[in-house]
Amino acid sequence: IKTGSILGGIGALGAAPAALAKPQRFRFPKDFRWGCATAAYQIEGGVNEDGRGKSIWDVFSHTPGKVANGDTGDVACDSYHRYEEDIALLKNLGVSCYRFSVAWPRIFPDGKGKPNQKGVDYYNRLVDGLLAAGIEPYATMFHWDLPAAIKGGWQNRDAALQFADYAGYMAGQLSDRVKKFMTVNEMRTFIDVGYRAGVHAPGLKLPPDQLNQARHHAVLAHGLGAQAMRAAARKGTQIGLAENLDTQVPVIETAEHIEAARRATRIENAMYLTAVMEGKYIDEYLEIEGANAPKPQAGDMEAIGTPLDFVAINVYQPQWARADDSKYGYAKVPHNPNAPHMASPWLYVGPEVAYWAVRYASELWKPKKIYIAENGASADDPVTDGKVYDAERVMFLRNYLKNFQRAVNEGYPLKGYFLWSLMDNFEWADGYTKRFGVHHVDFETLKRTPKLSAVWYKEVIRRNTIV
Ligand code: NOJ
Repeated sequence: IKTGSILGGIGALGAAPAALAKPQRFRFPKDFRWGCATAAYQIEGGVNEDGRGKSIWDVFSHTPGKVANGDTGDVACDSYHRYEEDIALLKNLGVSCYRFSVAWPRIFPDGKGKPNQKGVDYYNRLVDGLLAAGIEPYATMFHWDLPAAIKGGWQNRDAALQFADYAGYMAGQLSDRVKKFMTVNEMRTFIDVGYRAGVHAPGLKLPPDQLNQARHHAVLAHGLGAQAMRAAARKGTQIGLAENLDTQVPVIETAEHIEAARRATRIENAMYLTAVMEGKYIDEYLEIEGANAPKPQAGDMEAIGTPLDFVAINVYQPQWARADDSKYGYAKVPHNPNAPHMASPWLYVGPEVAYWAVRYASELWKPKKIYIAENGASADDPVTDGKVYDAERVMFLRNYLKNFQRAVNEGYPLKGYFLWSLMDNFEWADGYTKRFGVHHVDFETLKRTPKLSAVWYKEVIRRNTIV
């Protein structure tokens, strides 16, 4: 190759530059936290046990035609009884932390009223077991299993008030041992998929004004919940939330597209994370929604904007955005349906989203700490001679991790990572047809088997390096 070819300057000429001479090491900071995540309804089962009330997911999954194969969470992974086995799996992986959720209807079977001690005891056992295994618990107060007793669900403002009472109560019960709490998980999904698309519980397709009001009740629940938890929890308890940022990834990494995608990320999140982090509904949102915009009551926005100790982001598929000269300066670039995706058709592969999620969250709102509350992939995972070689999941996770690491290297405050999920589980409307675990679960025998990805993740954690 002659000097002056188009490759000139990127190392194709002569001796390799020093940076390329030795293999790159993808090491994480010493205090980086590695964990796995799950959620109550997806793994616990035991739905009629010890006084648990019904959630909207019990009702929904028992309604014919709502969930693939008519699957329900009645048994799921049976973690209500097998939590010790699950803790052993976590211990074997070597994780430093575990993110689980508390089932509100176990604690307040009717949504409110008198707490059910047997429900609380389950989480006491789980937390004690985790601590005994040297694993730090991160508890999410709401991962979609809304008590069915709350009439109108998230359309009812009372849901937010009752959530605050429940979350405050639970923080009081656990905060002597649990130091990190998340209020709610993915408002974007439980509202937009449940009340707009009608695909998740309760299966509604609301008109825009009612939809926006339901969204408002969700952010309000987070805000009032955060306040109640702070009031009830011991000193030093850290409170955040887990949200899908729906990150808009710049199609080209040049200043104009980066700037446009950042603006897009803020506007596309205006009803959720932007509201929480800025304590207001931004002008663009109010303008776009017009008369359909939410109607907050006095004091709501202050509650919604309650300062947080950290923000946790769930990262899956990318959205693409580019600069253009439309009013808000960006346009979304839709996915080609044939583009590479994992077993879930929505899960397009785009590892760069991992970097941009952290960078934009940091640039837009300057949170003190960022965690990845979820990142993972569905795959078909055939069992061959009792083994699961889920190489696709390993490749997926490895590439996403490299992008998280890019964010860490550039100094964004990413402190930890929770892999979704510890094991295959009830994947909502997809039932048991989509597997996200690093442990395979046989839903007949409930046997857990580590997949190749579990072996891989264990090595990543052990070496604190991407392998
Ligand atoms: C995010 C949700 O929080 C979780 O419950 C779900 O299983 C994963 N996405 C995968 O779809």
